[in-house]
Order: sequence, then structure tokens, then C-alpha cells
Amino acid sequence: MLIHSASQLLTLSGGPQRGNALGDLGIIPNGAVLIKDEKIIAVGSTPALLAAYPNEPSLDAGGKLVMPGFVDPHTHAIWAGDRSGEFEMRLQGKTYMEILNAGGGIISSVKATRHASLNKLLTETRTRLWSMFSCGTTTAEVKTGYGLSTASELRMLQALLALDAEGPLELAITFLGAHAIAPEFQGNSDGYTELICNTMLPVLKDWWPHHAPYHPMPFVDIFCETGVFSLEQSRHVLETARILGFPLKIHADEFDNLGGAQLAAELGAVSADHLVKTSPQDILSLAASETVAVALPCTPFGLAEKEYTPAQAILEANGLLALATDLNPGTAWCENMQFAIALACRYMKLTPAQAIAAATINSAAAISRADQIGSLEPGKQADLIIVNVPDYRHLGYRFGSNLVQTVIKKGRVYPV
Ligand code: NIG
Ligand code: FE
Repeated sequence: MLIHSASQLLTLSGGPQRGNALGDLGIIPNGAVLIKDEKIIAVGSTPALLAAYPNEPSLDAGGKLVMPGFVDPHTHAIWAGDRSGEFEMRLQGKTYMEILNAGGGIISSVKATRHASLNKLLTETRTRLWSMFSCGTTTAEVKTGYGLSTASELRMLQALLALDAEGPLELAITFLGAHAIAPEFQGNSDGYTELICNTMLPVLKDWWPHHAPYHPMPFVDIFCETGVFSLEQSRHVLETARILGFPLKIHADEFDNLGGAQLAAELGAVSADHLVKTSPQDILSLAASETVAVALPCTPFGLAEKEYTPAQAILEANGLLALATDLNPGTAWCENMQFAIALACRYMKLTPAQAIAAATINSAAAISRADQIGSLEPGKQADLIIVNVPDYRHLGYRFGSNLVQTVIKKGRVYPV
């Protein structure tokens, strides 16, 4: 199939974009892309591709923007229930960490998720995955972390594998047993850390190849934060995971700077995420590594906080910057990468071009898939979107409505 007559075809070709190289969209005016089955065969100008492939069935993009589907590399999209009551409490003055320390927050979603039937968990999650897909996300990372016992975390993984198999949204899966201290271990974070290291991770290592033989190993992530997992505990969990062969991620510096970003760089984590309170020194360490810095602007927005990830400092230090939604029931119930882009432009001072690259090719790198997705290049997966705008700068500029008109996933066309 030949998709042609795009006002602009954004190829994002050439691999992940570091530092000030961020924002190279590889624009082909009046562009076209030829796809066959699940793959991209060719990209070029409409006249050139129509001449070269005159007999292909065609899809007229009608002067709209065509670009790679968004890759959302940090979500907690699987949970049951909601926390609208806590939202109201926060508006009345309670802080996010006060609510968590009082047994609410993540723990209230853990209780709801544990008690939900598998069917309810799947149904609620499926609705969100469809919403992400219709907003143009073609691949998303999703974390467990609302189970916090071996059995309930495995149940979340099982549900994620089933949802990935259903499609069309493709999932990259992360084990986040270290999302909070399980209620059974309240006041004994070392005890829960030992359970993760001595039981959960070894069990998962054994379980995965039997249940997900065709999937890459899941990422192992941890919430390194005051009152949750200390830097020392985070090191213990991540080092144990690394020895077992898991790729690593970390929630670092969301509320306090504990040194999580530095730890990620040292351990060769695939990404370090949040990075609001990261020190200049830690930014330098991170930028000098292969670890992708993932900014989550929906989170400070969702918490009505003023501070965002210091994107300019990360870029000046030549770091690899990506964007994600952080979709979760507590801080950021947002399925839409277009909104993350709009916030990143305003509060992280990214240009639309920089934000688009951070939400496609660089976010693919944040889940180790930049060789398959995140750009429109021959041989890559045919994951693309037709956006109902004439120019890429409308992304970021406009917000609050869904600008995506058509999503093409592995070569299949889904009008939205
Ligand atoms: O990334 N920081 C920890 N995890 C989520 C929030 C999860 C929740 O509140 O349920 C985050 O912001
Ligand atoms: Fe998160």
C-alpha cells in the first residue's frame, strides 16, 4: 500500500537524537511511504513513489501530516479502580506523599487491583489502551506495580501478555514489584526489598520463558524516593535484577534527589525516568551514559507542581531525552502523548520538533526498540499516524483535542 500526498512526511530517520541534535525530523514535503505487510519498503516524495510503484493500492493522506506512531515509554496503564477522592484531597491541601504514607496513594490502587477479577482488570485496562492507540500511540511500555505480592504481580504480567497478544497496541512490559512497600511489610522496607530480591526476581526469571517465550525479558524498575525505596535498596534490587539478566529502569528524582539517576548511569539502565530534582552533577553522569532520560511532564502538571524536568540542561550535556505520559491513576491519568508534547513545549521549552523526536525515535530507544520502531525507514515496522494538521508545529501548539485521524499499526489501517 502506498500512502501518499502527506503535506509533510516526518521520517525521523538516522537513529536516536542526542543533545542538540534533537529535533531533526527528516521532513519530506509532499511525502509518501510504501508499506508491505508489517514493514516499510520505501519513503520518498509523492511524485517519485507514484511513478516507481504505479500499481500499488493507495491511501491518500489528503495534505495532512504523516509521521511515526508515538512510542510511550513509561506508563502504569494497568490498574483497577480510580483515585478521584485523593485528587480532591490534594486540591484541599494534602500532598501526594502524605496520602501514600497514610496508606492511600499507590497502596489504594494496590488494594483495588488485587481485589478486582481478572476480567475487570482486563476490561478497565483495555479501555485505556484503546484510548492511547486512538491518540496515536502505537507502542507503549506498561509496568506492573499494583500487586506487590509474587502472585498478584505475576497476575498483572499475565494480563499484560494477554493484552499485548490482543493488540493492536503493542506493549513493552516492565516488572515494578518495587513500586511501593507492600502493605504486609509496612514499616519493614528492608523485608520487602529482600522478598523482591530473593523471591520475586528469581521466580520471574523462571516464569518468563514459559509464559512469554517470544517476548524480550521484561524491564525491572524501582521507585527510588524518600519514604519508598532508598538509594541503597534500589541498588540492591537493580544489581540483583542485572545479575539475573533483566534490563533496568528507574523512577528517579521525582520528589527528592537521592542519586537514582547516577545509579542508573552506573548500572547501564536503559532509562532513568522523572528526573525533576536531578542535580547538575547527576545530569552530567546520565548524559555521559547510554541511559535515556525520560521526562514525564504530565506528572508535575497532574500534581499542580511548578517544577519540570530540566530538559535544557540535559540537552546541553548531550543527553538522550525522551517523553512519556506516565499514565497512572494517581499523578497523571493521561493517555495522550500529544498532551505530553504540549506540556513539554511550554514547561521544558522544547520546540515542537524536539518534542516530536523525543516522543518517537528517542522514546523507542527508552524501551530498546529504536531498531524496529520510532522512525519511518525501509525495513522498520509500518507503525504510522495520519494527523489532521498541515504542519508538524501544530503538535504542541494545539492541545486538548485529539489531532490524530488514522493509525496504521504493522501495516493495518485503523480510522479513529
Ligand atoms: O510515576 N512515582 C511512582 N509511580 C507513579 C505514580 C503511581 C501512582 O500514584 O499510582 C508515577 O508518578
Ligand atoms: Fe511512573
